[in-house]
Amino acid sequence: MAKSLNIGMIGYGFMGRAHSNGYRRVSNFFDLEYQPVLKAACARNEDAIKKFAATWGYESTETDWRKLVERKDIDAIDVCVPNNLHKEICLAAAANNKMILCEKPLAMNVAEGEEMCQAVEKAGVANTVWYNYRRIPAVTFAKQLIDQGKLGRIFHYRANFLQDWTISAELPQGGNGLWRLDAAAAGSGVTGDLLAHCIDTAIWLIGGVQNVSAMTETFIKERTHTETGKVQKVTIDDACSFLCRFNNGALGLFESTRYARGHKALYTLEVNGEHASLKWDLHDLHRLQWFDHRDEGNMRGWRSIHVTDSDHPYMNHWWVPGLQIGYEHSFVHQVADFCESLAKGTPCGPTFRDALETQKVCDAVLDSAKSGQWINV
Ligand SMILES: NC(=O)c1ccc[n+]([C@@H]2O[C@H](COP(=O)([O-])OP(=O)(O)OC[C@H]3O[C@@H](n4cnc5c(N)ncnc54)[C@H](O)[C@@H]3O)[C@@H](O)[C@H]2O)c1
Repeated sequence: MAKSLNIGMIGYGFMGRAHSNGYRRVSNFFDLEYQPVLKAACARNEDAIKKFAATWGYESTETDWRKLVERKDIDAIDVCVPNNLHKEICLAAAANNKMILCEKPLAMNVAEGEEMCQAVEKAGVANTVWYNYRRIPAVTFAKQLIDQGKLGRIFHYRANFLQDWTISAELPQGGNGLWRLDAAAAGSGVTGDLLAHCIDTAIWLIGGVQNVSAMTETFIKERTHTETGKVQKVTIDDACSFLCRFNNGALGLFESTRYARGHKALYTLEVNGEHASLKWDLHDLHRLQWFDHRDEGNMRGWRSIHVTDSDHPYMNHWWVPGLQIGYEHSFVHQVADFCESLAKGTPCGPTFRDALETQKVCDAVLDSAKSGQWINV
């Protein structure tokens, strides 16, 4: 007999939709003991949230998240709002004994993140952070290959996350959709928004980061603020590059920008080991590129593995071998894993505590860019 997991969703933007889609589809493809029920959706604009609730099948709506977190019929709060609201909502949700699925980055900084970890740990509530790229089958497959020791000693980790949507100086900062350009709402620019994903995947794949040396740039120094109507200083990082040393001795190179003309969401990663290398690219997300030096010499070369077979991670839940799935399925997988971990009584990574490690690297990167020094994480 399935048990319900009553979801209270806060936010109805990009992630509100991506997660709602995950909750709606998961039980059709995964055989789960705990099954999500779209109980309530919350946002400040009543008309907008009612429309969203009707579209996705939420049973009710709220316009104040404080009311939502106190509702007795809600088991889990899903935080899909700008970063400056994560802490306050999570602390209130934990105080009301709600499980929490929080969007990334966990917090505005490490101090906030630490408070959030303590709150969920004290309350003993299940928690996870939506670093969803871990659950794209080709990325999960990369993790399996690394864990099986197929690459041998790891020497290099390289990741990029490139976009081009903020190049125009006419683009305002702040408010709906543009809160990412306002440090007061976002905490940082590409570091917390994009590199946080790269850092989470890297830590998951090859382990923690010891120290970093970073540079950032804000190419457009002033933009009109949507909320005040005034031209204000831009304080986010438009671009960030950093070097790092991992705890296992590997060297890392990371770059992110919203000024790489022609690139929309080009997340790429590459790992070079003693025996083999692997590469992955979000624009071709169902493929893993693999080079194995142990192959017979005259046949050696990069192979492109179409990660769609039933023995690839998650793929036995979907179609027949050869038919690929997409970006949105990473959210379905995270919901499935969260529900499975509830049934087993185990944590669903990345937990708040895991995500705090990424936050520490982000903070160190921003400190290093400011001081021009290497910073220990
Ligand atoms: N995992 C990922 O790949 C990924 C992708 C995009 C965004 N994110 C993260 O998700 C979060 C939301 O980003 P988004 O792209 O969905 O933003 P968005 O601008 O599309 O949506 C934000 C939502 O928050 C709502 N909101 C703002 N203030 C509120 C308040 N006080 N009470 C209730 N609702 C409020 C807005 O109405 C809107 O519905 C951010 O933390 C972001 O970093 C993660």
